[in-house]
Amino acid sequence: MRKKIARRGLVMGALALAAAAGIVSAQQKQVNVLCSVTLPWCEALGPAFQKETGIKLNFVRLSTAEGLARIRAEKANPTFDAWFGGTGDPHYEAWSNGLTTFYKVKDYENLRRDLRFAVGLSYVPIYQGILGIGINPNVFKAKNLPAVKCWSDLTKPVYKGQIQIANPNTSGTAYTFITTLITLMGEDKAFDLMAKMHPNVSEYTRSGVAPRVALGNGSAAIGIQFMHDMVEFKKQGFPIQIIAPCEGTGYEIGGLSLIKGTRNMENAKAFMDWAISPAAQSIGPKTGAYSLPSNIKTPVDDDTPNPKDFKLVTLDAKKWGNPTVRDPLIKRWTSEIFPLPR
Ligand code: F6P
Repeated sequence: MRKKIARRGLVMGALALAAAAGIVSAQQKQVNVLCSVTLPWCEALGPAFQKETGIKLNFVRLSTAEGLARIRAEKANPTFDAWFGGTGDPHYEAWSNGLTTFYKVKDYENLRRDLRFAVGLSYVPIYQGILGIGINPNVFKAKNLPAVKCWSDLTKPVYKGQIQIANPNTSGTAYTFITTLITLMGEDKAFDLMAKMHPNVSEYTRSGVAPRVALGNGSAAIGIQFMHDMVEFKKQGFPIQIIAPCEGTGYEIGGLSLIKGTRNMENAKAFMDWAISPAAQSIGPKTGAYSLPSNIKTPVDDDTPNPKDFKLVTLDAKKWGNPTVRDPLIKRWTSEIFPLPR
């Protein structure tokens, strides 16, 4: 009898241990991702990744500069393991500030050379996006507005209250606009253009993709954002025309980073290895995101704006992502442009 009880005790103990191990492995099979692409793309990542690896993906979506602020605030106790997407400058700044650490993903050599070389061993390039101007031709016709061809046109008083663009304090897209203008014309002329454009801006949105909504529904005549974000709305039938400014335009090298101090290193690395695979990169266009994938083996959707077709300025990723450059520029915008009367 005593033997039976002892054996039962052993079995129960073994079961409890197995259950505990199960809980631990279930807990370990998770990855927490800060996601800075569009919500449908963020949402589609988890099921595909889990199907491939068995690892559950939890995400929070934040615009790129908001993401950087969050990682900075959590430096001592990070809640994210990896950061997927968003413009590269804040990824570069995060790396410069010791908030992320470079992880050379398994198929790193398959990523486009020009993108890898531009950012060095700071973050992993996952896509490229080209900045553009969107117009709603119906609004232009109804209000009898002159055509927009160049960045400099955006200062014309005839466009008062007609433009939407994001705020660089939250959005990486808006910072790309600033670096594009500075590269094209120098800092003071760029700030002069933004000051003159300011009365024409009806709203500085939080997220870089947001202007397409106002553009699509006609509440704004002009939106400044990445071309690939406008492609989706155009395909949905919204009256949007995409313009490549006559002076030339800038671009983003979208980022993927490993959060420094993650206690979930293996799953974070597994996520990053997967995220640059052709299968994972093909998820973007399926959710309406037409940025150019970084992996040379990923098929490129016909609707993806291709850098070869545009006059692109060369943006120095290491300069514009440097905290000693990026932080003062955003401060200057916040103190000199944002408070101006409209
Ligand atoms: O497609 C979404 C996207 O435009 C990305 O290409 C880009 O990296 C990100 O959004 C930028 O978002 P935000 O300007 O809100 O930081």
